[in-house]
Amino acid sequence: MEITIILRQGSEIVVSPIPGDTLMETIRGAGIDEILAICGGCCSCATCHVYVDASNDIATQASEDEEELLNASSSRRPNSRLSCQIMVTNELDGARFTIAPEG
Ligand code: FES
Repeated sequence: MEITIILRQGSEIVVSPIPGDTLMETIRGAGIDEILAICGGCCSCATCHVYVDASNDIATQASEDEEELLNASSSRRPNSRLSCQIMVTNELDGARFTIAPEG
């Protein structure tokens, strides 16, 4: 399984995630430090904000708590998700995620 992470300046990194990890853990584990994940994945900091490839269903699967946090972000888009709330499953194969701007 492979997913592509697009960094803020546009370069792409292909990573092989481990099912059961979160996307945030996958991104951090790949050495990408643009995701701060200050709360450690507790859905309370929004520093793990990513944009999901629009063709992917998980773009619309945020929980109520996640939606609230995302709504407080000035970088919110319809395809915004918090990467700590996305579990890696085989369905993510081929997905592309762009790291959102800070704030
Ligand atoms: S790591 Fe804090 S909300 Fe995702």
